[in-house]
Amino acid sequence: MRFIKIIVLFITLQMSAQQGGMWIPSLLQGMNESEMQSLGSKLTAKDIYDVNNSSLKDAIGHFNGGCTSEVISAKGLILTNHHCGFSQIQSHSSLENDYLKDGFWAMNLDEELPNEGLYVEFIVRIEDVTKQVLEGITDDMTDREQQSKIGTNSNAVERAAKKEAWQDTRIKAFYKGNQYFLFVTERYEDIRLVGAPPSSIGKFGSDTDNWVWPRHTGDFSLFRIYADKNNRPAKYSKDNVPFTPKHFLPVSLDGISEDDFTMVFGFPGTTDEYLPAIAVEQTVKKVNPANIAIRGAALKVIDAYMKTDDQIRIQYASKQARIANAWKKWIGENQGIEKSGALAIKRKMEADFTQQLKVKGLESKYGTILPELERLYKEIEDVRVKRGQFVEVFVRTNELMQLMFRLSQMEAAAANGEEAFDKARASMLARLEGSFKDFNAEVDKGVFEGVMPLYTENVDASIYDKTAFTSLESAKKVLEGYSSEVLEKLNKDAAYSYAKPLIVEFYTELDPKFQALNDQINALEKQYMKALMEVLPKQRYFPDANSTLRVTYGKVKGYEPRDAVYYEPVTYLDGVIEKYIPGDYEFDLPEKLMDLYAKKDYGQYADANGKLPVCFIGTNHTTGGNSGSPAIDANGNLIGLNFDRVWEGTMSDMYYSPEICRNIMVDLRYVLFIVDKYAGVKHLIDEMKLVHPKKNKKKK
Ligand code: ARG
Ligand code: ASP
Repeated sequence: MRFIKIIVLFITLQMSAQQGGMWIPSLLQGMNESEMQSLGSKLTAKDIYDVNNSSLKDAIGHFNGGCTSEVISAKGLILTNHHCGFSQIQSHSSLENDYLKDGFWAMNLDEELPNEGLYVEFIVRIEDVTKQVLEGITDDMTDREQQSKIGTNSNAVERAAKKEAWQDTRIKAFYKGNQYFLFVTERYEDIRLVGAPPSSIGKFGSDTDNWVWPRHTGDFSLFRIYADKNNRPAKYSKDNVPFTPKHFLPVSLDGISEDDFTMVFGFPGTTDEYLPAIAVEQTVKKVNPANIAIRGAALKVIDAYMKTDDQIRIQYASKQARIANAWKKWIGENQGIEKSGALAIKRKMEADFTQQLKVKGLESKYGTILPELERLYKEIEDVRVKRGQFVEVFVRTNELMQLMFRLSQMEAAAANGEEAFDKARASMLARLEGSFKDFNAEVDKGVFEGVMPLYTENVDASIYDKTAFTSLESAKKVLEGYSSEVLEKLNKDAAYSYAKPLIVEFYTELDPKFQALNDQINALEKQYMKALMEVLPKQRYFPDANSTLRVTYGKVKGYEPRDAVYYEPVTYLDGVIEKYIPGDYEFDLPEKLMDLYAKKDYGQYADANGKLPVCFIGTNHTTGGNSGSPAIDANGNLIGLNFDRVWEGTMSDMYYSPEICRNIMVDLRYVLFIVDKYAGVKHLIDEMKLVHPKKNKKKK
């Protein structure tokens, strides 16, 4: 007995040392299933993914292609993050009905608000189609020939796939193109807003707390899926009815304790876990610093204006959030790579790989991959940095240059005739209407003066005084007339003639040079992936995230961010109140919440210690796109809502370290408390299935 216990402990230690990874839900049987069970899960692989019976996967929906959501009632109620529903909440808001500021709660189905363009997509089935997709591919084909053959094969597989008329199919590459999977999907397009807390709860702590633990944000919003009378996907119609899911997640009221098993089920966007050390080093030492500098310069200007002018604060709120989000992430990423010693660990692994090639007699087959990658990364360095800077300036930070970049595309469209030009102009005009609503020329000129010197020596801010593109009216005038007239006016414009040579340089030099080298790198990294799995077969290899449905799992766990500091894994409402700064744009709180706290009126949502839990962290390996993903307990119940990662661990996109990588989740009891006690929307609570897995077990 004792002996068995020791063995179990040993195996458990081995496995927990190896956590991380985002796994394909249809392939959990075997290694993942037993690893999950050793961490405390009671679920079988079939409970999570089953084609013939309902399973957890049927409750998980891709939310508008960028976030995750989960069904939590038999009537199609879904939960996602506040920041995932942000633009929908914003679009229904006005000065009179400021749902961003005050929150929104539909009191019945009729009050739920439709959202044009918003969709939720479910996975019906996943199939390995590697053999069919790679059929006829041979080593003597060029990369381009291979890609084209893969394209035609994929089309044929999709066409032949069995599916219902209302379903879609898609093929995605895994393991850098060494494996291919077919997804049969169902996309629901009538998604209505049901509820959202005020930003002072849903975005509490804003940028200061973004990517940070300890965290106290109630980052959630509620939507509902509507379907036609046959429960099938349909465009918005008054006659649509609440969707009946194949499965919905019960909500556990028992909460979590440190070391409890958790699983996060969602749609992670992108990771780069198998980059060679040279690539990671380049990102950390060259690419990130260059991009951090540009965003930092832009934020310095925008932040200063936002603090002094309310109008600007509102106009720049979401632009600022977008710029700040990645800026802050990259800074954390660089620190995490350093702290975890990722480069040395990767180099050691590469040395092992090279050593094993000799041992296994595979030098002639794979021996040139790493040296070639080393050479190519050196060659691509300057152009990769410069191209990245161009994107930061012309796409992400400076609005006038962004406009010039778009206008250059409109100019290019003129080469395809008047009709093509008209189409490009129409979309340009629509864009202008939108962007000038939130544009302030003085702010943008400040941003220009900050970011441009980081890209080029040729900086001329006087263009802001001469160009027509600082106001909607004068911009529209330039776009009037036949294409030849428009282009003549455009090329005389001060901002356009300033930007054009830089844009031309991008299209004729930077981008083609980058793409050519990058294609070679991709082809080699595909080989490297294959070789790694063959040469070092004992390692665990999960496929990099690619916006497909994945399972990641771990435990509730605190961590040590730096020497002598230990972070507990759970935060409470007490901590929200500690952070309260009256009137502050990040840390203000609604009075009602303060009242509930003063009365300790937590209802059935308090923890065993009498406190109200708010957020918790775990060792689940997540990335952008996992926002809104459910955190599921050992029995398949919902216990948390994923929304972020800790700052020191954001390097998990390139190197996952079980010591410092943690995902951040809202405790579901905080969500329920806000819906029930704060907003008083009892009918939503009634429609959910609340369970007590731990209490019930104790009774037995
Ligand atoms: N860092 C989280 C993510 O990458 C949350 C971002 C939303 N919040 C914000 N303050 N910008 O999406
Ligand atoms: N906040 C991210 C998201 O929106 C999640 C993350 O990067 O951890 O998907």
